[in-house]
Amino acid sequence: PATAGENGDLAGTRVVVTAGGTREPIDPVRFLGNRSTGMQGYALAAEARDRGAEVVLVAANVILPDPEGVSVVHVETTAQLAEAVDEHRLTADVIVMSAAVADFRPASVGDHKTKKTSDGVVAPIQLVVNPDILAGLVERRAPHQTIVGFAAETGDADGDVLFHGRAKARRKKADLLVLNEVGHDLGFGAPTNAVTILTADGETLGSAEGSKREVAAAVLDQVVTVRGTAGT
Ligand code: CTP
Ligand code: CA
Repeated sequence: PATAGENGDLAGTRVVVTAGGTREPIDPVRFLGNRSTGMQGYALAAEARDRGAEVVLVAANVILPDPEGVSVVHVETTAQLAEAVDEHRLTADVIVMSAAVADFRPASVGDHKTKKTSDGVVAPIQLVVNPDILAGLVERRAPHQTIVGFAAETGDADGDVLFHGRAKARRKKADLLVLNEVGHDLGFGAPTNAVTILTADGETLGSAEGSKREVAAAVLDQVVTVRGTAGT
């Protein structure tokens, strides 16, 4: 579809998108990380731009080319991502947390490379919990803001993907939670994605399957709808 630009349904809207996956250093050469490539977040940023939004893209360890017409902030760690989001939080109308944020980080970072031991004994890595950036955004949400979380879930003995997604939506209290099924050929690194979009009450608003750009369009359709019905 042609670029809607200033006539788009997000014209005049400031959108912050986080993408990729944060990395937590262990020592100068090693990190704890995850498999997120940033493709879905980049597609969201490009789609928002083409609908007329002013977009800040906070990219954690993404090797894709920077999208044109978007302000890109590159970060590595969760602390850096949190700082970048905080810097743009107050002016943002929409914040989309599609980054895979590391839940834990090493309690201390070695200032030199940890050497291989000769006796086969390895010290465990102590972890501490990272702050939940999305929770902080929801807590301090301004009345005009729409906050979108993502959730990567797998089914387990307690329930299926939707069961866990609904519970997370109610826990997180973001305006929208985009539920992503991890595994199969979906998700990390794949060109396509399949999502279910939930409200803060865990109700299903819709679902989308297709290219990451098509999924981005479906997510932003719901953003426009909830903003339109929010009495603005
Ligand atoms: N998130 C965040 N800060 C964190 C962890 C996650 O802002 N420290 C955000 C993610 O960007 C995503 C949402 O929270 O939008 C859900 O992330 P997810 O990993 O699915 O949920 P968690 O609450 O971390 O639960 P768990 O990993 O145990 O399933
Ligand atoms: Ca997590």
